[in-house]
Order: sequence, then C-alpha cells, then structure tokens
Amino acid sequence: MAFPTTRLRRLRSSPALRALIRETELSAKDFILPLFVRPGKAEKRPISSMPGHFQYSVETAVAAAGAAVHAGIPGLILFGIPDKKDAKASGAYADNGIVQKAARAIKDKYPNLLLIADLCFCEYTDHGHCGIVKDGKVLNDPTLALAAKTAVSQAKAGFDVIAPSGMMDGQVAAIRQALDAADRHDTPILAYAAKYASAYYGPFREAAESPPSFGDRSTYQMDPANFNEALREVALDVEEGADMVMVKPALPYLDVLKAVKARFGLPTAAYQVSGEFAMIKAAAANGWVDEKKIALESLLSIKRAGADFILTYYALEAAGWLA
Ligand code: PBG
Ligand code: ZN
Repeated sequence: MAFPTTRLRRLRSSPALRALIRETELSAKDFILPLFVRPGKAEKRPISSMPGHFQYSVETAVAAAGAAVHAGIPGLILFGIPDKKDAKASGAYADNGIVQKAARAIKDKYPNLLLIADLCFCEYTDHGHCGIVKDGKVLNDPTLALAAKTAVSQAKAGFDVIAPSGMMDGQVAAIRQALDAADRHDTPILAYAAKYASAYYGPFREAAESPPSFGDRSTYQMDPANFNEALREVALDVEEGADMVMVKPALPYLDVLKAVKARFGLPTAAYQVSGEFAMIKAAAANGWVDEKKIALESLLSIKRAGADFILTYYALEAAGWLA
C-alpha cells in the first residue's frame, strides 16, 4: 500500500515508538578492548595518535583490565611490544614473552574476563613484517611453524581465544593442529579472515612499534579493491577450522562484513581499527563533529551490517556513553 495510506513517519512520531521498533541495539557487551603491553614497571606511555590509549607494563595493564571489567566489557585483545626484536620473532612464542606475562597477571585477577591473543609477528620481528623474511620476501610455510608454536604458548599462558592476524595461507589449520596436539581442543580460533592491506592501520604501527622496515604488506594482506576474494579467504578459514571470523577494517568494509555474515553465518567480528578511531578523535578535537554521536553511529552501523562483536578503541568510552 502506497502513500497516503502508508506513512512511515507514523512509527517515528514518539521516542517510545521509535524505541519499540529499533532494529539494532548497542551495549558494552558488544565490545572488545585492545591493549598494548610493553616491558617495564608502572609504564603508561601515551600513544599520540590514539588519545586515551597507552603502552602499559604488566601491572598497569592489569589496572586497565579492571576498568574494562567495571565498564561491563567482556574481553580484551592484547598486543605486545617485546624488549628485543629479531629475525625469528622469538618474543612471540617465549613462555615469558610480554603478552604471556600480561595474560597470566590479568587472568590471575580477572579470571572471567575473556582474553584474546592477537597472533602475528610484525611486533616481534626486527624488520616489522608478519612472518619469516628471506631475500626480501615473506615466506609462508616457515611462518606457519612459528604460528603453531606461538598459539600453544599463548593458550598455555591463559588466553581464551587465539586470533591469527598474519594473513599467511594455512595459518588456521596449522594453529588448530598445534592446539589439538597440545590438548587444547577447547581453545577457539578467531580468524582475521578478511584483513585488508589498509592505510587505516597507521596509528597502530606507532602504538605497536611495528611499521615494516621495507615494502608494505600487500603480498599477504588483501587488496582493498577485492570483494570476492574476501569470501574465498573466509571459506578457507572456515574449512581449516576457524570458530569465528573477522573482517578488518570495519566501516570502509561493511559490504564485506554483511556478505560474510550472510554467507557463512559464523560468529563474526569486525575490527574498528586505529585509523578509524584516530579520524574521529582528530575531527572531534577540532570541533568539527560530535564525538559521542559519531562514534556511536559508527559502532551501531558496524553492528547493523552484521557484526556480532566489535574490536574497538572506543570500547571504554562507548560503554560509558551507553550506561
Ligand atoms: C598485526 C595487526 C595489525 C593490526 C592488528 N593486528 C597491524 C597491521 O596489520 O599492520 C591493526 C589494528 C589497528 O590498526 O587498530 N598484523
Ligand atoms: Zn602482523
């Protein structure tokens, strides 16, 4: 029935009616907070391009975890800045590595807070690439062996979920096999399945001190131009045993997110990355946008497009706004 019988404005006429028919609802339970951990004591070094975010040492990371718990946030994803970087990314799978230590300390105090381990090597290699490099090339299969070791080390340290983000072919299968062989059948894998070679990661590379020292990541991360390839990436990760999948970045890739959720029906995450966060912060600092409204609209849109949960640097602030 068309106008004038049908008038869509009828259901917009009061706050109560609008609330009754609202299709998407955001809450603190939707958010995962990323934290950066470095060696040291009582460190809380500001990350200049990510206002409100810091490189923490273990004790201050535990305090930040406490703030997340009190805000009703269900989990954290941890990134490590090791004291030494080398060609083999030793710090990534050292049993006393920085994220392993942080995970033990956080779990000790907050056993019910979910801890997700980002599994990648760019923070741990001296060249800043996400794998083993030889003759200027990032080698796929030798990197898988390190990924397998790292996953087991992370699970033993208390991480609840392993999230491989290196975009190496076969990484999910390699990790699943290693976890099972170590009797960690119950540790789920959240695959960064469709991860694009994105300029939106700029601020993160300052935060994690991980910019590649030569070239870029386009031989392993995806071309922003490609959509069908993202579906192939996700299909492979699902076949290899991914329990959950992720699309990253979030807002510029809502088409991909929506299709991944519709096609595979798996629990699906989206990562609102550092550049998405920094752009809102910068515009808000200039008085050009309303930070609270634009941040919540972005998060709502990511959820509306199909995300079951969102990794976001706005987790704490958004939880506060929604409370
Ligand atoms: C590691 C990793 C990156 C991000 C998450 N895991 C950086 C990269 O791929 O260069 C980016 C997150 C962000 O920008 O917030 N590979
Ligand atoms: Zn990486």
